[in-house]
Amino acid sequence: MGESGTYETRSPGGGAREPRLVRNLRSVRKDPRAFFEKIATWLRPMDRTYRGRWNHGVRRWMINYHKHIVFNKVRWMGVEARKMVLDSWVYQDIIYETRPDLVIEIGNKFGGSTLYLAHMLDIVGHGQVIGVDIDHSVFQPRHPRIQLVTGDSTAHETLGRIQEMAAGRNGLVIHDGNHSTEHVLADLRAYSQFVALGGYFIVEDTVSDVFRAGDGLGNINGPLHAVRRFLQEDPRFEADVDREYFIVTYNPRGYLKRVR
Ligand SMILES: C[S@@+](CC[C@H](N)C(=O)[O-])C[C@H]1O[C@@H](n2cnc3c(N)ncnc32)[C@H](O)[C@@H]1O
Repeated sequence: MGESGTYETRSPGGGAREPRLVRNLRSVRKDPRAFFEKIATWLRPMDRTYRGRWNHGVRRWMINYHKHIVFNKVRWMGVEARKMVLDSWVYQDIIYETRPDLVIEIGNKFGGSTLYLAHMLDIVGHGQVIGVDIDHSVFQPRHPRIQLVTGDSTAHETLGRIQEMAAGRNGLVIHDGNHSTEHVLADLRAYSQFVALGGYFIVEDTVSDVFRAGDGLGNINGPLHAVRRFLQEDPRFEADVDREYFIVTYNPRGYLKRVR
């Protein structure tokens, strides 16, 4: 999930950021109901009393999780992880079922998610994690299954190093790097080669395209657009919606299975 706590809202043309007032007016016109829901959230924050906290829908719960939980509370063995924890449970399903030789995680930040993946591989007794990030300066874990490749995920040099490490091995790719449509699409095209038949390429944070701009989770040009374009051009992959069995996920339509 993105780093600042909110995704930056770009103008529909993709240009400079618009003033807040203009964005608010635009969102009222586009979706009045969403605008009033947002005002209701400000006036009546998530009820945290024992009984009251059960009276919120999934949408409110997600916004609360994103605003107050994911950047403040979620850790794996003490290391910050920017995860919807229900997705992490689905990741262990996939690791257990597909037994990848390599998990290539694009975007590692503090490394809580990377360490989690290494521990899952410890449990199945097989595999390595390649952590790819443009900046590993805040990365914390040290674990024998983790190898780091520092660089832009789309750079020729980064990809070349991973090709050497991944030769002849079946990979699970998890994308949590640069979430812009163009970047995710470029990574999908470049890293799908590491996924064998039956394996997965997980694109994270497609949820940001499902929520509306301005509610703290919304992003006009995010990873879901890249997924849609990629699925149109590469028939080897399909979105495995069965992996969304918790309903709550940061990755709707982001569990891409190689079926051909
Ligand atoms: C949301 S954080 C990753 C969080 C981590 N996966 C977790 O769940 O705790 C996104 C990371 O992507 C990295 N990143 C951004 N653009 C990138 C790029 N072009 N290539 C590689 N990494 C990139 C950032 O440096 C940042 O550490």
